[in-house]
Amino acid sequence: MDSFLIRGGSRLKGKIEISGSKNSALPILAACLMGEGKTTLHSVPRLSDIDSMIKLIGELGCHVYRHDAPSAVSGDAPALNGPLDIEVTDKKQCEARYDIVKTMRASICVLGPLLAARGKAIVSIPGGCAIGDRPVDLHVRGLQKLGAEFRTENGNIVGEVKGRLKGCRMYLGGAQGPTVLGTINVMCAAALAEGETVLVGAACEPEVVDCAELLIKMGAKIKGHGTPEIRIEGVEKLSGTQHRIIPDRIECGTFMIAAAITNGELELKQCNADHLIAVSDRLDEVGVKMERENGTMYTSSVRRLNTVEMTTQPYPGFPTDLQAQLMALLCLGDGISVITERIFPDRFLHVGELNRMGARIRKEGPTAIIQGVKELHGAPVMASDLRASAALVLAALVAKGTTRIDRVYHIDRGYEKIEQKLRAVGADIERVKEK
Ligand code: EPU
Repeated sequence: MDSFLIRGGSRLKGKIEISGSKNSALPILAACLMGEGKTTLHSVPRLSDIDSMIKLIGELGCHVYRHDAPSAVSGDAPALNGPLDIEVTDKKQCEARYDIVKTMRASICVLGPLLAARGKAIVSIPGGCAIGDRPVDLHVRGLQKLGAEFRTENGNIVGEVKGRLKGCRMYLGGAQGPTVLGTINVMCAAALAEGETVLVGAACEPEVVDCAELLIKMGAKIKGHGTPEIRIEGVEKLSGTQHRIIPDRIECGTFMIAAAITNGELELKQCNADHLIAVSDRLDEVGVKMERENGTMYTSSVRRLNTVEMTTQPYPGFPTDLQAQLMALLCLGDGISVITERIFPDRFLHVGELNRMGARIRKEGPTAIIQGVKELHGAPVMASDLRASAALVLAALVAKGTTRIDRVYHIDRGYEKIEQKLRAVGADIERVKEK
């Protein structure tokens, strides 16, 4: 397992190109199972989770081809990825095996597309997860309302449809609010169902909108995406198309915090600042300077960090996927900050590791109370999940001395070429390969 060695103290300065969104690309790749003909996707990031999804749809009969990357944009910045062609060549397979599902929960995204396009789906039930209990009951309930029948068999969800799925009006929310991938799963299935489906309590995240835009290009009739009520008029067939994945708002937010924590100045290219409005609001209160111009976000900090209170919420609220990174920043705040996690109340594995680096964080139920300290110091720490690892990288960038972060395979799941991107703007970071 690779590690990162980070020597803290460098002020980050320069340009970073934001990659395509992992959380948009994953369900979009699954949605390609429903298309007839070739779909070409641009800006699909090169990440281990994406490789797992490509492997999964490959096993489900898709031919996937990645074109070469165009050359680097500027200076030391790494070249990102070439387009991806996907074409369904065999519709017989309907099973997402445990081997793949256990490495990536987003495998559940094939459930709706398989049921709608092939009438059958066998998906291994995703197990526990470092960020807490993550049930898929809302996905199953929504698909049941469209007429699919489910049973569990040997650790698998087995779904079947007699004839064609049938549209209906349904409430899709759960105890913790809307579900992002659940909304996408049911929306995909409804695109090929008979008649109209109305999803009330739908997730409004930009990733849901991006998938709806892809489906519309494939021939689906969808309205209201981006609001809590999505209307889908089913069609008989979806065709291949071309689509560019939206910029990764979580990667962008992470680099905004990287600029702030290192007292640096970053120009984040190809991002969508509208998707980060709640994040900008909190960072503004912390004292971070942000300016936007077309697709670029300029972020800098004068390094007196105010304290804030923040609660994670469904979009357009502050995303749970940036909670750990904001916490790393607030460790250096001038006083006490409070963070409450409403989406995944147990998502605090980073607290113990940040405290090992000199932070003073106390957890009370779903809330963390952060007493700002003057400085953090390097220490050996362990990455536990994707976003917790990003928080450790941020803390290490400013810590005195060297931090060794083990198990960085977690970070490779969601940040494309992170060490190259950070090194290009002045960070002292190196990957130590497993022997
Ligand atoms: N929930 C249920 N039942 C369900 C589904 C969800 O109770 O059937 C609950 C969850 O336990 C949670 C809440 O509903 O409390 C919201 O979960 P959601 O379904 O929205 O999460 P998800 O769709 O499985 C996506 C992202 C996560 C991100 C969440 C919330 C992908 C691949 N994953 O997960 O991203 O945290 O939405 O925004 O899109 C990450 O990238 O690090 C990551 C974990």
